[in-house]
Amino acid sequence: MGGPEDESRMSHRRAAITALGTHVPERVVTNADLEKIVDTTDEWIRTRTGIHRRHVVEPGTPTSVIAALAAQDALRRRGIGPEELDLIVVATVTPDMLFPATACLVQDKIGAKKAWGFDVSAACSGFVYALTIGAQFVETGRHRKVMVIGADVMTSILDYEDRTTCILFGDAAGAVILEPREDGTGILDFSHEVDGSGAPYLSMPGGGSLHPATHETVDQKMHTLKQQGQHVFKYAVRKFADASEQILLRNDFTGTDVDLFVAHQANIRIIEAAQHRMGLPDSKVVKNIHEYGNTTAATIPLAMKTALDQKKLAKGNLVLLAAVGAGFTVGSVLLRWTGVSWD
Ligand SMILES: CC(C)(COP(=O)(O)OP(=O)(O)OC[C@H]1O[C@@H](n2cnc3c(N)ncnc32)[C@H](O)[C@@H]1OP(=O)(O)O)[C@@H](O)C(=O)NCCC(=O)NCCS
Repeated sequence: MGGPEDESRMSHRRAAITALGTHVPERVVTNADLEKIVDTTDEWIRTRTGIHRRHVVEPGTPTSVIAALAAQDALRRRGIGPEELDLIVVATVTPDMLFPATACLVQDKIGAKKAWGFDVSAACSGFVYALTIGAQFVETGRHRKVMVIGADVMTSILDYEDRTTCILFGDAAGAVILEPREDGTGILDFSHEVDGSGAPYLSMPGGGSLHPATHETVDQKMHTLKQQGQHVFKYAVRKFADASEQILLRNDFTGTDVDLFVAHQANIRIIEAAQHRMGLPDSKVVKNIHEYGNTTAATIPLAMKTALDQKKLAKGNLVLLAAVGAGFTVGSVLLRWTGVSWD
């Protein structure tokens, strides 16, 4: 749990997002394309999830490649070189391989010679968890420039015979740079929780120490994502709203104080349930799931990009990030937007 925003901390050093970069693959898979592969319809997918299309990598493109492209985009927009980075934290559930960490591969690809790094596994909450972790190093003064990346190649773990899951996900990467600020902007508070009893409802069971790869695990498609959608849906609806309300309450805010709600994009119905509970108008909520689907760790930085493109984000805005994911993991982060260079 983080500490609430109060007067005494207003001039303290905070970790602030000073740059945003993204990478979305060009290749598009529409609902009509999926109709040819599994027993589904464009209408079912749109009405049950809000997804119209998703972007996917060329087969064989690993997470480190799109993560590095997003990182380079963030560096370019900030106008700094990779050698200035102190730390790289990559949130992903589709690492290039179990080890080395994707953060190491990104460090090498972008030439961040003095940075150390590691991966965070928190599925759809990965970006907010990684953001919180990176922020601690900035707030304590140990680091001045931390790169936080959320990147997933979900198509590498989808079962294209399972209509209940393969329609949901896309591939993308987003990256932010965290730096210290003492002007009242930056990350104010975070609230994270896990409920490990939710593990069976959303997982990729094969390939770890429990079920190392064998012919049998491959035959049983244990290296693909498995989900009990309805159970995850109900948990997500409840927890999105709870986590959002809780962090606002303890910082003496209500929904009306929020300038922008940036929610993980898993299902339009989950986002809108939280939106309505907080009483937020459409102008204060980012929705881009129709274009990208669920890109797991990348949805929140990608939603920040959409907000900037739509001119919904300005310096000083109170921004609430919220996510729920496999684990179960739950995360919310409250921040005052610092402003980034955006063209
Ligand atoms: C997956 C999800 C979209 C399914 O929607 P739902 O309204 O819960 O649908 P259900 O699972 O109850 O299925 C309803 C029916 O649609 C069918 N169905 C499932 N997928 C389908 C598809 N792609 N096309 C057509 N029909 C489909 C089911 O088989 C079921 O049919 P039945 O009633 O004959 O058994 C929804 O549960 C969801 O979004 N869950 C959370 C996902 C999530 O957030 N995951 C990431 C973690 S953040």
